Amino acid sequence: MSVLETKQLTKQFGKLTAVDRMDFEIDRGEIVGIIGPNGAGKTTFVNLLTGVLEATEGEVIFDGESLGNAPVHDRANKGLVRSFQIPRVCDDLTLLENVRSAVLSRERRNNSLFSILHWEDESREEALELLERFGLADRQNVEAETIPHGDKKILDVCMSVAMRPKLLILDEPTSGVATDNKHEIMNRLQRYFETTDSAVLFIEHDMELIEQYAERVLAMDQGQKLIDGTPQEVLEDETVKRRIRGEE
Ligand SMILES: Nc1ncnc2c1ncn2[C@@H]1O[C@H](COP(=O)(O)OP(=O)(O)O)[C@@H](O)[C@H]1O
Ligand SMILES: [Mg+2]
Repeated sequence: MSVLETKQLTKQFGKLTAVDRMDFEIDRGEIVGIIGPNGAGKTTFVNLLTGVLEATEGEVIFDGESLGNAPVHDRANKGLVRSFQIPRVCDDLTLLENVRSAVLSRERRNNSLFSILHWEDESREEALELLERFGLADRQNVEAETIPHGDKKILDVCMSVAMRPKLLILDEPTSGVATDNKHEIMNRLQRYFETTDSAVLFIEHDMELIEQYAERVLAMDQGQKLIDGTPQEVLEDETVKRRIRGEE
């Protein structure tokens, strides 16, 4: 069953159609990669999903419900979460404090009878468990500003996961990370998401990472869906080779 579906989703900036009548679906638990040349409309597409941008036409259906113009936080509360957006890593808090604050903000939003006292211990336990699952527990008490860039990206995903997403969106989760560390990051994310129901939609330029970590791939070009299929089908497609992989 699909957790998210778009119907003829379209975004125009003046005369430019950045996202052009996109029909797309992602199932529960699925891990889907989005590829496309610069300017293809990938970021605009995910901004329409998360509510950062309002669609010109078309709709986003999440968990069986049309989202209309629901704002970013409402969507996040429903389980449509974009990492590096909500919640944000706070540099002068420790890793544990960062993840705890994400757990607490979730509870505060979801529970009108929320009592911070009741959650004092529970949030700590849950945060620690999350840090463990992402391999960050050994540094639970160090400040976030002191950890390497790649670990910070993992911390950000860890905090997003604390929101209990049904769909987590990642825009280039390994950008700015040395090639050697990209696999390390993706492995840790994969290990976590293999064990959950959460679907993951990630934009990625590195075709090797797409091939290895995506279960399905959506290729975009000029705001449109070029092809949607298994990594093999998509990466071997002639237009994808020419337009996205830079082969003649
Ligand atoms: N806020 C905006 N205003 C005007 N044009 C935009 C805006 N955001 C993106 N665009 C344009 O929309 C197109 C798609 O951009 P984008 O979604 O960022 O592509 P991608 O993420 O695939 O590189 C590009 O031509 C870009 O210049
Ligand atoms: Mg982009």
